[in-house]
Amino acid sequence: MSGRVAGKSALITGAAGGLGQAMARMLAREGAKVAVTDLDLAGAEALAASINADHPGQAFAFRHDVTDEADWVRVVADAVAAMGGLSVLINNAGIGSQLVFAEHDTLENWRKVQAVNLESVMLGCKHAMPHLRASGAGSIINISSIAGLAAAPGMGAYNATKAAVWLYTKTVALEAAKAGGAVRANSVHPVFIRTPILNLFVDRAGGDEALAHEKLARGIPLKRIGEPDDVAYLVIYLASDESKFVTGSEFKIDGGMTAQ
Ligand SMILES: NC(=O)c1ccc[n+]([C@@H]2O[C@H](COP(=O)([O-])OP(=O)(O)OC[C@H]3O[C@@H](n4cnc5c(N)ncnc54)[C@H](O)[C@@H]3O)[C@@H](O)[C@H]2O)c1
Repeated sequence: MSGRVAGKSALITGAAGGLGQAMARMLAREGAKVAVTDLDLAGAEALAASINADHPGQAFAFRHDVTDEADWVRVVADAVAAMGGLSVLINNAGIGSQLVFAEHDTLENWRKVQAVNLESVMLGCKHAMPHLRASGAGSIINISSIAGLAAAPGMGAYNATKAAVWLYTKTVALEAAKAGGAVRANSVHPVFIRTPILNLFVDRAGGDEALAHEKLARGIPLKRIGEPDDVAYLVIYLASDESKFVTGSEFKIDGGMTAQ
């Protein structure tokens, strides 16, 4: 097997979604085995079947609720058994929050977003770490957002989770370095990328997807939203040994948005 991540074994959460699918396909194309996990088992299985059609035996699907610690224990054990180890963890599963100002937010909305976007990252790092260390060169890739580095009205719950993922990733990177340096951890911060998570904005544009995406693109210097592969290309770099001296860093993929 050749490729930039040949010999790697990657677990990707939320893999039935837009970004997860792109990452899984590119990782497999570049030689990695992939455990694709999601609440949506049918979606994960369809993705694994499609990857295996081109790269036989490289993809394995699991049902996984990232907010549930017992699920993490089961899925990590099953993924390690299926792939023969674990060298890359991609904490990708996430949800948008209702667009609501703080004074109107509910504790229920707040806690749900914290559980899916943030607590999941702690659980993933915790349960994958021994296997990542055993692999000799582990990489944790936490998918945060540009919304973890800059705030926006109505996005309090989402902003808070993604900002926490940004700093928590650095804590994990430092701890892993202190423990011997076999595991690296970095965060990825995309701006708007064309996936179903943007449906919230499409709904607000009366269901007109092109109009919604055009409106989102207006604030981006490159005047377009991103494509899932724009993120997957960075993930390949962070998953591979090409990034072996890179840890505790944040990577923006934002068409110049935060340069303004
Ligand atoms: N698309 C963007 O514009 C954008 C920008 C910045 C950051 N992100 C982040 O990228 C990540 C992936 O988002 P996407 O754009 O692919 O969205 P998506 O909605 O296409 O995919 C998200 C996936 O997560 C899964 N999921 C939701 N709750 C889950 C749970 N409890 N357990 C397991 N899986 C669960 C969903 O089933 C879905 O398949 C998210 O963390 C998101 O916050 C996306």
